[in-house]
Amino acid sequence: MMTDTRAMASWTGHRVLVTGGAGFIGSALVEELLRQGNEVTVLDNFSTGRLENLLPFGGDRRLRLLVGDIRDRQACLRAMEGAELVFHEAALGSVPRSVREPSESVAVNVCGFVNVLQSAVELGVGRVVYASSSSVYGDHPGLPKVEPETGRARSPYAITKVADEMFAANFHELYGLDTVGLRYFNVFGRRQDERSAYAAVIPQFVSRLLRHERPVIHGDGSHSRDFTHVDNVVQANLLAATVTAPEALNEAYNVACGGRTTLNELFEELREALSAHDPAVRGIVPEHDGERPGDVAHSQASIEKARRLLGYEPVRGFAEGIRETVGWYVAHASDAATSAGQAD
Ligand SMILES: NC(=O)c1ccc[n+]([C@@H]2O[C@H](COP(=O)([O-])OP(=O)(O)OC[C@H]3O[C@@H](n4cnc5c(N)ncnc54)[C@H](O)[C@@H]3O)[C@@H](O)[C@H]2O)c1
Repeated sequence: MMTDTRAMASWTGHRVLVTGGAGFIGSALVEELLRQGNEVTVLDNFSTGRLENLLPFGGDRRLRLLVGDIRDRQACLRAMEGAELVFHEAALGSVPRSVREPSESVAVNVCGFVNVLQSAVELGVGRVVYASSSSVYGDHPGLPKVEPETGRARSPYAITKVADEMFAANFHELYGLDTVGLRYFNVFGRRQDERSAYAAVIPQFVSRLLRHERPVIHGDGSHSRDFTHVDNVVQANLLAATVTAPEALNEAYNVACGGRTTLNELFEELREALSAHDPAVRGIVPEHDGERPGDVAHSQASIEKARRLLGYEPVRGFAEGIRETVGWYVAHASDAATSAGQAD
């Protein structure tokens, strides 16, 4: 749920498709699009997404759910019928997953994306706003990351996102399709999956702390990331949907807060926020393990381009976002415990 501290861009009365709408980011976007009075179709195969992510707004008659795969062209065409715009969030995330199963990541993230683009051209959909990733910066040493300066991609996942940006540009050149690419930096917030073997670092740390287990930090904890709350990502998507200046279209943008937090600092922030709910968490210290292949050491975005061309400003800062997210996991864990108790 948004707090009204900073305003979300408004966009209402449209018909859109959200691929991957049952996932973490997709469901946050669906929630806000419905709240603002849009008609939303979700195309998702539930490979990593969950029906329960859509349940809070499942009763909304403007929401249509199609269970299908973006690798299936017919499913893309069916889902896109009548849509003015596509928000493309469906992908297999996680660098380690792509290191273990590169061909599947390529099939979904690249071939699936090309299906989405091709279907959009065929049906005359006006615009595709798609999820790219900070991983496209690869081994480029510069900090903060600025959009034109990318290095060598360091994982199959990163290569899929580089390929997606190339296909988006190519579809504009060949077929005149307008796209906007959003390079998300480590996103966190409500409904981010904590149960998957490939869970992102914040849900991993939180779920271990809630079970009074020691979170595992890969490396010495000095690696840093530009952690950004999911509401900022929703904001960037809405702005990318509304922007009209030709120079702002067919570009890729960093979406982040523009700050940098080390894993050690993140751990402390989460432990502090959770201690307010459960004092036993205060004494837990992390375990350190080896570095993971494919990981980059530091990541921090320049958000100047998004500011200038999209009018983007983060709507929620890191500390506030962490408090909201921890509150959500605590409430979620106690709901789960209550329903497990009722089932006994
Ligand atoms: N979470 C982050 O920090 C982050 C950072 C950078 C980029 N991204 C990108 O943002 C997008 C959304 O990520 P997320 O964190 O919400 O992940 P997620 O796994 O929660 O959501 C992805 C959704 O796509 C669906 N999906 C996967 N394969 C599909 C297929 N073949 N057909 C149809 N649906 C399919 C999944 O079921 C899921 O609902 C992805 O493109 C991801 O690469 C995420």
